[in-house]
Amino acid sequence: MDRFDINGGRRLAGRLTVKGSKNAALPMLAAALLTDQPVTLTDVPELADIANMRRLLTELGCEAQAVPAADPESPGGAVRLHARDQSRCHARYDIVRTMRASVCVLGPMLALRGQARVSLPGGCAIGERPVDIHLRGLAALGADIVLDQGDIVARVPRAHQKRGRLRGARVFLGGPFGSTVLGTANVMSAATLAEGTTVIESAACEPEIVDLANLLNAMGARVSGQGSPRIVVQGVAELGGADHRVIPDRIEAGTYMCAAAITGGDVTLDNCPVDALMALADRLQEMGLTLRFDPGQDAMRTSCRVTAPAPGSLRPVEVATQPHPGFPTDLQAQLLAVLCLADGNSVITERIFTERFLHVAELSRMGARLYRQGPTVIVSGVRELVGAPVMASDLRASACLVLAGLAARGTTTVNRVYHLDRGYERMEQRLISLGADVTRLSAKDPEPAPQNAGQ
Ligand code: EPZ
Repeated sequence: MDRFDINGGRRLAGRLTVKGSKNAALPMLAAALLTDQPVTLTDVPELADIANMRRLLTELGCEAQAVPAADPESPGGAVRLHARDQSRCHARYDIVRTMRASVCVLGPMLALRGQARVSLPGGCAIGERPVDIHLRGLAALGADIVLDQGDIVARVPRAHQKRGRLRGARVFLGGPFGSTVLGTANVMSAATLAEGTTVIESAACEPEIVDLANLLNAMGARVSGQGSPRIVVQGVAELGGADHRVIPDRIEAGTYMCAAAITGGDVTLDNCPVDALMALADRLQEMGLTLRFDPGQDAMRTSCRVTAPAPGSLRPVEVATQPHPGFPTDLQAQLLAVLCLADGNSVITERIFTERFLHVAELSRMGARLYRQGPTVIVSGVRELVGAPVMASDLRASACLVLAGLAARGTTTVNRVYHLDRGYERMEQRLISLGADVTRLSAKDPEPAPQNAGQ
């Protein structure tokens, strides 16, 4: 298992191009199962999760050929998809357990093939993560759904469906923590081929859902209202092929903004989806950072210069995660790392995944002063963090520990960076290009000698 050794204390400065969005690309790859025509996605980041989804699609009879980017600094490569074999409908546990987003194949397979068997995803490091709302939504479209040996088995009942298709309905996707992003992706995708009109109430408003709707429309679907809590889908008889460019990754962009913030840096992000990052921009400005971007450019693909004040002078803030356009849960850990070094007390409340705090104990090992009570953490800013060996637990918690390491005195070793590789393409090389001192070491490289041994 690889690890990062980070020698902290370097100010980051320079320029990066934001990669294509992982969380937009994953359901869009699955959407290729809605047609027997070729679909090509561009600006797809080269990540472990994308490779897993391609492997799953291949098992489901959909060719998924990756064409790497000629320039590694570009937003990403292409993936050419073509679902020629409609007979294989089983997403096996072996793949689903490695990546929860595998559940995105459920809606598309059910809609076109009339049946799907998808292993029920288990819990993960950030919490329980049920899929009950996905299933409720698909059942409202007429699917029969049962659980069998840990698999979701969904079918369109032939008796009362014309041509084995789902039927449009009014579907409510609200849950105890707001809507569901991948649940909206599943139901919206399935509804494109249903008989009649579907109205999704309490739909997720995330930019990744807007991008998926735009791809579906390019394939011939009739989706409107994307980006609002009410999405209307008028079912069509079939979908065709399309070429589509994936939006930039707002979470990757936000993570590098936090890297600038924690190192007192000055970083310009090209291909930056500022429009999707207003909640983070608001908090960073409140903390004393300056964000400059050209209002004349497309606000989803603009250049944004992020300039931080000198270390020690960041102001503390309060923040609560919320569904979009609120502050994203996927940036909570990264902002928490930055607030460890603010001049005063901050409060962070996690309202989407209330247990998503595995990074708190690791940051404490680096000298952070954190007090957690339920979904809230009080962060008392300290003057410095101190390097330590720490353990990455999930994707965004890993990014948080890397950020802390960039600012800490001495060496931080972040173990298990395979979590990072799921969502950040070549993160260490991108940080090095901004002036960071980060080395990726593989399991065969020796552990550093313990410091102060025997004292
Ligand atoms: C997506 O997960 C993202 N994953 C997550 O990003 C992100 O944290 C999350 O949305 C919230 O923004 C991908 O896009 C691949 P949800 P998703 O269903 O769709 C509850 C990352 O780091 N819920 O919107 O699975 C759920 O427990 C990942 O890149 C139900 O109760 O999240 C949570 O509290 C991690 N029943 C809330 O809703 C359901 O059926 C929102 O979850 C579904 C969800």
